[in-house]
Order: sequence, then structure tokens, then C-alpha cells
Amino acid sequence: MEKILVLDFGGQYNQLIARRVRELSVFAEIIPYNKITPAEIKAAGYKGVIFTGGPNSVYDESSPHYPAEILDAGVPVLGICYGCQLIAYMGGGEICSAVGISEYGKTGLTVKESPLFDGVPETGICWMSHTDYVKTPPAGFEIIAFTDNCPCAALCNKEKKIYGVQFHPEVTHTQYGRKMIENFVMNICSCAGDWTTDDFIETSVNKYREELAGKKVLCALSGGVDSSVAAVLLHKAIGSNLICVFVDHGLLRKNEGDMVERVMKEEMGLNLIRINAEDRFLSKLAGVTKPEEKRKIIGAEFIRVFEDVAKDIGKVDVLVQGTIYPDVIESGKGDAAVIKSHHNVGGLPDVIRFEKIVEPLRDLFKDEVRAAGRKLGIPEDLVSRQPFPGPGLAIRVIGEITKEKLDILRESDAIFREEIANAGLTGEINQYFTVLTNCRTVGVMGDAGTYGYTLALRAVTTDDFMTADWSRVPFDVLASASNRITNEVRSIGRVVYDITAKPPATVEWE
Ligand code: XMP
Repeated sequence: MEKILVLDFGGQYNQLIARRVRELSVFAEIIPYNKITPAEIKAAGYKGVIFTGGPNSVYDESSPHYPAEILDAGVPVLGICYGCQLIAYMGGGEICSAVGISEYGKTGLTVKESPLFDGVPETGICWMSHTDYVKTPPAGFEIIAFTDNCPCAALCNKEKKIYGVQFHPEVTHTQYGRKMIENFVMNICSCAGDWTTDDFIETSVNKYREELAGKKVLCALSGGVDSSVAAVLLHKAIGSNLICVFVDHGLLRKNEGDMVERVMKEEMGLNLIRINAEDRFLSKLAGVTKPEEKRKIIGAEFIRVFEDVAKDIGKVDVLVQGTIYPDVIESGKGDAAVIKSHHNVGGLPDVIRFEKIVEPLRDLFKDEVRAAGRKLGIPEDLVSRQPFPGPGLAIRVIGEITKEKLDILRESDAIFREEIANAGLTGEINQYFTVLTNCRTVGVMGDAGTYGYTLALRAVTTDDFMTADWSRVPFDVLASASNRITNEVRSIGRVVYDITAKPPATVEWE
């Protein structure tokens, strides 16, 4: 399989670089710069290497460096931002600090003729974020782009196929940035672009069919996209040797537990055990008001529920985890199997004995997981669902949790989701839900006064959930959601819309 290596020097857009390569149907792998040598890069057959950006200055003693022999290894290299400066530094060029005239944000760019800029107009906009810049390119390199403040915005050694850009072609603010990456990957590295989801499914199924033959395999199913796709993929490989356990903690959305059970058991044919543990969880949560305490109690109770199930299932050989690529990068910097720090499964390995963990989705980004889910025949409702926190509605009932409050929240949440869907907005908003505050306010209904709960509507748009903005949901949609909720859900006397970004707020209220 042809692949591109994204060599990680600590930049903030590294995942985005890999995404851009994958969009060209070429597999991209992110590996920290100190975990792979030039010889290993060559031996692994990478078609090209992209040096990422990074927060450092190349002359700092502690800054990440890389053996210069990579530039002579015969593998095309593209350096981005810090990566570009590093190429210049490795080749003996001169880097300068542009303190006072550092560039940040959208900047006018002029490019010269070069294979990297094939089909790119001479002038355009690029996204800059730097203080240092290349003052003198190394011998054998020529300057192929500049901006008003940056005399060397891109450089290349055409013969050796080494390129560097001071700006960030991977972010959408850079006009023709995608084209530049395409030029590098498809033309300079000569990739064919034949990596598909079908290949992924077929290769994985064949691999696990062989690797897990005769093994007893356990998967903790949360009903979320990742664990569902991992389970269905493994089921395709090993059938009923895969045992899926779905713990319904009573903190799911309206009809969600039944939907997950029906789809996974009846439609997908999984060997599924559903544990209805609502009473256990609610009795443990009674009287608890602090969010972190709620999370801890839910995590601990999951372990206990699993301890009970484990007695029935006995020893298993393999545990399946729905770890996806961003989890691998964030939690382990590419290291071997990391247990996803997800509340649903965080404690599992302690209580269930197993020989190894398999993570069938560890190379995929979220949208690739969804694409694989669709190919595997998982219904769209499940594949495209928004993220849902492990502790579920427990962190959306502010303060003390009761079954009554959970039911009120479930009804209001279902109405809000329905109104968003009716307005055709599901694809535009990344997460949307309701929050039952513990604030009661006065109102009037008919001739009588009321004293009902205040319900908050929350809807956010985000790329990665690290930051988020509140969605500009049209007033008409908010109006119909508010009308329906106050009319149809008992005890809700007032509806408010949360207009806070993250930061300073978080997506969830608890
Ligand atoms: P915050 O509230 O931290 O949410 O801005 C960012 C994303 O994480 C989800 N979230 C959680 N997911 N367990 C989870 O599995 C949790 O305890 C938890 N808290 C927040 C949240 O829904 C959003 O998608």
C-alpha cells in the first residue's frame, strides 16, 4: 500500500495535513520525529515525507532536529513552516528571527513556476503563522515564493524533490493549498491515489479472520459510531465468536437503547448482550450533584456491571476497542495500544482477563469510520449520529439526577433534535442537545401561575471539539422548538438558548 509519512514536529495542524493527504485517497501516517530514522523511512517504502510545523525555533538547543541524511535518501520531502526552516537548517541555510515583522494570518503570496505550484495562480492568499523565516536557502535550493514580509515563503531543490513552504497549505485559508498538497503527493511523490474504504474493510476482515480464528472476542458496545463500526467489522470477520456487551445505564436519549439493540442484534446480526442497569446507576447517583463525582460513579459502576457479566462470559482472548486515529495521536503519540480513556470502557481491562486488545479503527479518522460504517451496511441514523458523552444525560441534568428529570430531558431533547432535523440542519451542526437546569422560574399558563424548570438548548459547530462556536440556528427553528417543548413537555416553563463559545464555556454544561 502506498503511503505518505507525516513526520510530527509538534505542530497544531498535523492531523489536518494527514487528512488532506487521505482526501487524495493516499494513506497517510503521523509518526513523531524521534520515533523513526531516515533508514526506516526508506525501508518502509514511504512515497514521500511531510515535515510538520512546530512551536520551536531551529536554533534552540531543545528544538526537535532530524538527521540531514533524509534529504539524500531519495524520498521526496515537503516541509511546512517549522519543517521548512528545518530543511533549510539541515542543508546549511540561514534562518532569521523576524521579530517585529512576524506574520500571522492571511497574507498575500506570490509563487514562481515550480512542480509544487502547478496549476496555482501567480498571486493568492496563504495562511502564515511564524516569527522565524529562511533568510538564505541552502546550496542547491531556489526560492519559489515570497510575501511582502517574507522573502523566502517557499523553497525547493527540484532534482532531489525537496520542497519547503513557510505558510500552511493544509488550512483552508490558504487558497490553492489543497492543490499544492495534491501536486506534492500525486506528482512529486507519484502516488496513484487508490486507497479506498473498500480496501480497508476487505483487508481488515481478511486479517482478523485469520488472526482471531477460534478466539473468544469481547466488545463493549456504547452505541456510539466508533464501537458500532468496530463491532460490525469484527463480526464480519469472526461472526458469533464476537460477543458484544451493551450496558444501558438509563442515561441514554429517548429510545436510544432499544434502537441500538434492534439495529445491532436484528439488522446487523451481532451476538449482543444488553444489560439494563438503569436502577443500579440511578441509585448510585441519587443525591449526587457534582459533575466529576457523577462521572466517577458512572465509570466505577460500569466496571461493576462488567464484573458481573464477566462471570457469565468467562475468560476472553481478545478485547476490541473502538480507538480511532485521533485518539491514538492524542493519547499515545502513536505508541502501541492505548486504552481509550472513555468512561464506558476505561476500567474494563482490570476486570476482564484477556490476552490482547485489537483496535480495528486505529488508522481511521472519524469521517473514514463513518464511511466504513456505511459500506458495512450500518443504518445512516447510527453512522451519522452526533457525539454523545459516556456519562450520557447525567451531565445534562444539572445538579441532582432523578428518573423524572431524565424523562423530562429526554422528551425535550427528542423534540429539539426533531426540529433541527425538520429544518435540514443536522449536517451543519456538530452537536446539539438540551440541558435541564436546576433553576425554576415563574410563568403563566391559562389563568394559573406556574413554577417550571428552565431548559437550555445548546447547539455548536466545531472542527475538533477543542474549541467550538454556538450555532446560528435560525430564530424560526428556535421558536418552534421552544413552542413545542413548553407545550408538550410537562414541567418546563422556560426555554433559553446558550450563546457561549468554547472557550470560555465548554460544550457540555457539566
Ligand atoms: P466539553 O464539554 O468538554 O465537550 O467541551 C467536548 C466533547 O466531549 C464530550 N464530553 C464527554 N465525552 N465523557 C465522554 O465520553 C465525558 O465525560 C465527556 N464530557 C464531555 C462532549 O459531549 C463534547 O462532544
